Amino acid sequence: MRHRHLVALLGYCLDGNERLLVYEYMPRGTLSQHLFHWKEEGRKPLDWTRRLAIALDVARGVEYLHTLAHQSFIHRDLKPSNILLGDDMRAKVSDFGLVRLAPDGKYSIETRVAGTFGYLAPEYAVTGRVTTKVDIFSLGVILMELITGRKALDETQPEDSVHLVTWFRRVAASKDENAFKNAIDPNISLDDDTVASIEKVWELAGHCCAREPYQRPDMAHIVNVLSSLTVQWKPTETDPDDVYGIDYDMPLPQVLKKWQAFEGLSQTADDSGSSSSAYGSKDNTQTSIPTRPSGFADSFTSVDGR
Ligand SMILES: *[C@@H]1O[C@H](CO)[C@@H](O)[C@H](O)[C@H]1NC(C)=O
Repeated sequence: MRHRHLVALLGYCLDGNERLLVYEYMPRGTLSQHLFHWKEEGRKPLDWTRRLAIALDVARGVEYLHTLAHQSFIHRDLKPSNILLGDDMRAKVSDFGLVRLAPDGKYSIETRVAGTFGYLAPEYAVTGRVTTKVDIFSLGVILMELITGRKALDETQPEDSVHLVTWFRRVAASKDENAFKNAIDPNISLDDDTVASIEKVWELAGHCCAREPYQRPDMAHIVNVLSSLTVQWKPTETDPDDVYGIDYDMPLPQVLKKWQAFEGLSQTADDSGSSSSAYGSKDNTQTSIPTRPSGFADSFTSVDGR
């Protein structure tokens, strides 16, 4: 199985006692490090757009396992430490050690319960019956973790709040209007759009963790909801790592200065070109690079052709 949101198996080694699986390298480590241990690792907390993009990546990877691969597979151990991040912070699902082939999407199979406490769907924990809906439950828990910044099982919490799903249900049922907002990870910076987006994911997470498997949505629905949010929701800041680093709203001389600073050049841009404003005009932004004003072209070449 190959999918851009599943960590790829590159090869294996069988040599006496050496039995190795070789996977592609995921340089940014696990989601768990970024979500729960960012302080120890000297990182910044993930912002909401990133969390949403990661959730969508995971949902797409698991949707492929469930339905798009020629057979249906169940992961059985989805959790943040099995979600790995690439240089671009896009996520891939890993650890297929517990994957089971579902005989048919409709029927469940009984297995020895394996997986991780805190992420286990109740019917699976109790009876060992496994369907694709156990993965939906686990993904729901991961969504709750992304929203609240709390672990599925958190022993540092008071006894009635240790189990995230139980705590989440209590908050969701609360009449207190602030309960939802207070549950959001304090390290997500909030504006109205972000809160609206989080609220949708909050609702989705609740459905994913419904007690009865038939009440949980399927992965295609989750992908739809999450992708609609990533399209509608626009970040308030321009991402500095954006495709070509071109911010079309910035006046040309400033763009050049930025590039040159980036390239470590001391020279400043020639900002005498009167036509720079034409390039900065929004009408040009959607087309491929328009004819450049001459001053621009020269500076561009000198930066680029070093
Ligand atoms: C994270 O949230 C805590 C609790 O509100 C706060 O004390 C801390 O300064 C925040 N850190 C960052 C980097 O946002």
